[in-house]
Amino acid sequence: MSEETYRNAKASIEDRVTDLLSRMTVEEKVGQMVQVRNAAEEHDSGVRAGHIGSCIIASGPFAGNERDEGVHIRRLTRLQKIAVEESRLGIPLIYARDVIHGYRTVFPIPLGQAATWNPELVRQGAEIAAREASSTGIHWTFTPMVEVGRDPRWGRIAEGFGEDPYLASRLTSAAVEGYQGDDMSQPDRLAACVKHYAGYSVPEGGREYNTVELGERTLRDVYLPPFKAAAKAGVATVMSSFNEIDGVPVSADRYLLTEVLKEEWDWDGFIISDYGIIATMCGAFGVAADLREAAAMCANAGLDMDMCASAYSQHLVSLVEDGTVSEAQVNSMVGRILRIKFRCGLFEHPYADENRAKKVILAPQHRAVARKAACESMVLLKNTGILPLASEGGTVLVTGPLARARGELYGTWNLDGQPGDVISIGEALTKKLGEDREVHLDNPAGMGGLSRILARQAEMVVACLGEGPWLSGEGNSIASLELPAGQLELVEALHELGKPVIAVVCAGRPLAIGRLCELADAVIYAWHPGVEAGQAVADVLLGTTNPGGRTPVTFPRSAGQVPTHYAHKPIHNDAWFGSDRANHYRDQLATPLFPFGFGLDYTSYRYTNLRISPERASMDGSVSISVDVENVGSRTGSEVAQLYVRDVLATVTRPLKELKAFEKIALKAGEKKTVTFTLSGGDLTYTGRDMRPTVEPGEFKVWVGPNAAEGIEGTFELAG
Ligand code: BGC
Repeated sequence: MSEETYRNAKASIEDRVTDLLSRMTVEEKVGQMVQVRNAAEEHDSGVRAGHIGSCIIASGPFAGNERDEGVHIRRLTRLQKIAVEESRLGIPLIYARDVIHGYRTVFPIPLGQAATWNPELVRQGAEIAAREASSTGIHWTFTPMVEVGRDPRWGRIAEGFGEDPYLASRLTSAAVEGYQGDDMSQPDRLAACVKHYAGYSVPEGGREYNTVELGERTLRDVYLPPFKAAAKAGVATVMSSFNEIDGVPVSADRYLLTEVLKEEWDWDGFIISDYGIIATMCGAFGVAADLREAAAMCANAGLDMDMCASAYSQHLVSLVEDGTVSEAQVNSMVGRILRIKFRCGLFEHPYADENRAKKVILAPQHRAVARKAACESMVLLKNTGILPLASEGGTVLVTGPLARARGELYGTWNLDGQPGDVISIGEALTKKLGEDREVHLDNPAGMGGLSRILARQAEMVVACLGEGPWLSGEGNSIASLELPAGQLELVEALHELGKPVIAVVCAGRPLAIGRLCELADAVIYAWHPGVEAGQAVADVLLGTTNPGGRTPVTFPRSAGQVPTHYAHKPIHNDAWFGSDRANHYRDQLATPLFPFGFGLDYTSYRYTNLRISPERASMDGSVSISVDVENVGSRTGSEVAQLYVRDVLATVTRPLKELKAFEKIALKAGEKKTVTFTLSGGDLTYTGRDMRPTVEPGEFKVWVGPNAAEGIEGTFELAG
């Protein structure tokens, strides 16, 4: 008998999908749409019967906040063997895990990675995570989280690429490419999953899971672009979000799931629900009478796989039988899941090779990339000249609640990194700086009796401040953006002693650190830097490398300014308030503490000679914008040249500035380079009054500079 087409690796994937679908019963089809938790023995019979298509390896619904027992390759292989060898059609399971910013080699949190403005580094980080995780039998990761984050109270801002749709889109494409490569069937790749589609990052009050009110135009122009970039990059899967928008739960919204994502964007992967959300339709949301109605609603909306709500497993077969959900609808959804399983090469290599894990996990070359990423993520917010630290001089005291921290420096969503793999900031500084200078490492309690004596003796103090991982990530929103209790007091006390303070802030969000910036002589914002945290901070403080980061989020002065971002819209009485909008509050400046894109360096840069050509372009032509960037300091550095545009006259209000391009350039002392950006009509498109992509003739203002608040200005015109 000739081999079935679906088993033939040489047949086209579409032929294999069609062939396999034609052999499946409704029960088997629905089985592919069911994801259960962990690869446990309780699932053996379901897998054997073809009633389970996927497992998430996780502790439960709050996996990001708790440790689990890790991935056991043999357990995965045992259950996979049942799927492949004992089920009727032998369809392999697809194993998923939240490998969010690295597997065992933990990279900076995604917000920190965004601060690198280095898509290639983000790509490499994802590639390494894929190599390590896939070696343990995982096929699919629930990342990147690509939601634009403009509310630092929201704990999950840590998991995204910041406030700007363009930067987030560039980094999203890079991450997807890193996980999946050109060919997802290679055993060292993972299927990626962009999440949480959509609007989840705009909860009222910044409170996790909260209600979202969001106009469609803003959704399309600000929040959807990274998802669209991922679809274009061929992302395998998308996760539908927990939230509603304007009363409609996204996970039951046919318009967003099917009409926009699958049809308008012509995307052929599959959608997985977020954990248990289908059950919320008949639970908290009250839009379905029971789980059966919830299952029907979500299936008809185009939600392809049910993560752990048991809604599809319990009800979808009978919903097909009574015609509430058509078999054609199920076929189209299952076809998408099978397509990704074929693309992942699961039928050809369903099992992981145990020996590979030993070779790749925490490989020295992986740590080297993590160190580079951590160094490039660190944003120097203030420097009176105390940094880089001189290798000679008096005693340095390293203090503060995070001076000896290890595992805390991984930040949120660390399932597989081990605290013992991290060298603390205090230890790394003691080792590196301690060769030439005396370094005292304080006890974790901070300004205890001993510290006060040590502080008096010290010439200067490195204060390691910030948030532990439990203050950011899922379910971890905060109302105040101040440093946690006691930290500012520590710095005030050191200041009173007359000691220069270098503050290293590790956090999952931009905190309101105005007072700290007044008191400290230097402030390095290190986010949560990952496995190379200590060495990277030491590299940056000693000037072995420049702090390469530029902030991917606006720093607010207080929580009262939230939402904070640079891409404001023009408003009534702008002229009265002043163009910098500094006066919009009576009790505080309305300008940010630090603008989007900001970051100092140990050298400085000058922008000159803006050239725009042609100054009048046709609608289908392009405009070239060049500027000279010169390193006018005395050290090598790398600058991120940023191009912002304003569409001066449009049929709807447009932001005062929008990032349209950037380039990170390395410059030696005294070196000058020309940076050239090209813009075409497609780059200037927005959602018009008719909700369709629009680009209109007229004047465009342009700024090229080091951040969203500075730059040389010019204009060009698109001729109609
Ligand atoms: C989170 C997702 C995550 C999923 C699986 C949910 O609670 O919102 O981001 O991927 O759990 O762990």
